Amino acid sequence: MTQRILILPGDGIGPEIVAEAIKVMQVFKDEGIDLDWSIGLIGGVAVDEEGAPYPESTRQAAHNCDAILLGAVGSPKHEGLPRNLRPERGLLDLRKDLDLFANLRPTIVFEELAHASPLKKDSIAGLDLLILRELTGDIYFGQPRGRRRTSDGAEEAFDTMHYSVPEIERIARIGFEAARRRSGRLCSVDKENVLETSRLWREVMIRVGSDYPDVSLSHMYVDNAAMQLLRNPKQFDVLVTGNMFGDILSDESAMLAGSIGLLPSASLNARSKGLYEPIHGSAPDLAGKGLANPLAMILSVGMMFRYTFDRIDLAQRIDSAVRSVLAAGLRSPDIAVSGEKAITTAAMGDAVVSALRS
Ligand code: IPM
Ligand code: MG
Repeated sequence: MTQRILILPGDGIGPEIVAEAIKVMQVFKDEGIDLDWSIGLIGGVAVDEEGAPYPESTRQAAHNCDAILLGAVGSPKHEGLPRNLRPERGLLDLRKDLDLFANLRPTIVFEELAHASPLKKDSIAGLDLLILRELTGDIYFGQPRGRRRTSDGAEEAFDTMHYSVPEIERIARIGFEAARRRSGRLCSVDKENVLETSRLWREVMIRVGSDYPDVSLSHMYVDNAAMQLLRNPKQFDVLVTGNMFGDILSDESAMLAGSIGLLPSASLNARSKGLYEPIHGSAPDLAGKGLANPLAMILSVGMMFRYTFDRIDLAQRIDSAVRSVLAAGLRSPDIAVSGEKAITTAAMGDAVVSALRS
């Protein structure tokens, strides 16, 4: 059966890193894996060409494929536009439209790069952490939101943090299942001492947890979790949290790995249809210069094989190819520390391809 992939390069460094992901997919296609891909528009380029960050043509293609690979969205040129025309809106609409509520953000510290992290090598070497971020609820989507004037004429803006029991339950189950396949430990991150949504979140986590007696559930306030991630990240295995806290903690955890250019992600719905994208943004300052690290994008292709196509063998080949280029000393600028020579985006992609072919 042909696996149909929609590729959405997006803005900034998106197209450059996506080009390297395509090289990797071509390796498998050449080996006879039945992959078929097409390219679509999202983000700022979609606003320019179609007048909307998530145009109808992309919406249809997204519904008619098996998996989506996305580069990045966001561009300075579109920053002043109204909220519904911001490039980021395209990504949020895509996530919501396909109900991609479960966002898996693994942080793996490659042995070869432990020295590239600003943290002490001992505290991060061997780290393998999964942040599970709820992706279609919370203050990102809660209504009402907007701006208004108060009765005394002051302008104000407001967003609504919102979670329903079914939304929490389904992400909780994914968290417990993931913990069960890993170390059997799940840490739920909330702000239960302050927020109503977090009180409900914690209640539901505990309730769902009774179906998983083999998993040990703990709870941590998000401010403490932010600190513990730096103090002793290896205490965690799977962290499950809401959309906003997950956004922040996953960028923080990228620094444990050494660079945000290394972290892939998978966003899944209940049918394991997936959107695969690096957790980093469009990095407009790096765009077009061959400076971007394509590894997060390439590792996202690996996650696609693992979670949507059920080809763990191919995912493992991608992971080991990435490890081998790092072991060979190849570095993009973001992970090159003093004295190490950096190579271009395309050269890094080519190196992964030749590791895969050898
Ligand atoms: C991410 C990004 C997005 C988010 C932006 C680009 C809308 O920061 O995927 O983490 O906030 O979810
Ligand atoms: Mg983010």
